[in-house]
Amino acid sequence: MTNVVLETRDRVARIELARLDKKNALTAAMYGAMAQGLAAAEADPQVRAILIHGASDCFTAGNDLKDFLDRNASGGPSSAFGFISLLRTLKKPLVAAVGGPAVGVGTTMLLHCDFVYAAPNARFQMPFVSLGLVPEAASSLLLPMVAGYRRAAELLMLAQPFGADKALAAGLVTEIVPEAELLERARATALALAAQPAASVRLTKQLLKRSIAQAVASQMEEERHHFAAQLASPEAKEAMTAFFEKRKPDFSRFA
Ligand code: COA
Repeated sequence: MTNVVLETRDRVARIELARLDKKNALTAAMYGAMAQGLAAAEADPQVRAILIHGASDCFTAGNDLKDFLDRNASGGPSSAFGFISLLRTLKKPLVAAVGGPAVGVGTTMLLHCDFVYAAPNARFQMPFVSLGLVPEAASSLLLPMVAGYRRAAELLMLAQPFGADKALAAGLVTEIVPEAELLERARATALALAAQPAASVRLTKQLLKRSIAQAVASQMEEERHHFAAQLASPEAKEAMTAFFEKRKPDFSRFA
């Protein structure tokens, strides 16, 4: 049981996050299943577009913090990296439908999507710094590119949640759509992409990303190095322990 539903219909591969009792927090197994879904979609000539979504009131609470706390959990962070690396190199168009929480990688993965539809209830957050970590998925490069340095510094360093309007203004979202129409709207775009000439869509995606592809790969490696080191820091342990103890973290004793 991986809590990820994979389905291909009408030339659209669908990846659904389904671990709602834990707000779709992503385990190593879920990253593995998502990566498998992406790889299968990429390899299947019948598939023309990929759609990723959760429930209309919950996209994902990001990486499972228990996996982060237990660094020896089978493949935890590196299975996340495998998924993110696949997102980076994906040739087929990727559409996301986001409602409710979109935390951590739940927000940063959107920087790799070609279309992002958000419901008014979407709540984005990149709490890496508050967790004693650093940004991942090349968000430290892509976010200032799409949102501008000033906004990226605010969203990454203060790491507060923000709504769909702010995400739209920051360039993270294509369009805000009513919650009841969220999935349907995202699927309609995936179907429209599937009806376009496939090679032209793939080549256009490649051309759009070509000038930054190398920089994105290199930034991901740099982030990965710092992320792994910070994961072992006392600040990270305090932040994650505090989450499960349902209290505010206290960083005052760390230099
Ligand atoms: N990892 C592990 N478990 C998580 C989780 C995560 N990232 N996010 C939520 N959960 C679990 C909670 O521990 C809780 O479990 P319980 O019912 O056994 O106590 C359950 O999911 C529901 O979460 P809760 O916090 O009660 O829901 P909420 O609606 O009040 O808040 C969030 C939703 C997403 C805002 C909040 O859960 C949150 O901030 N989660 C952590 C996000 C995070 O820091 N992710 C890592 C990013 S790098």
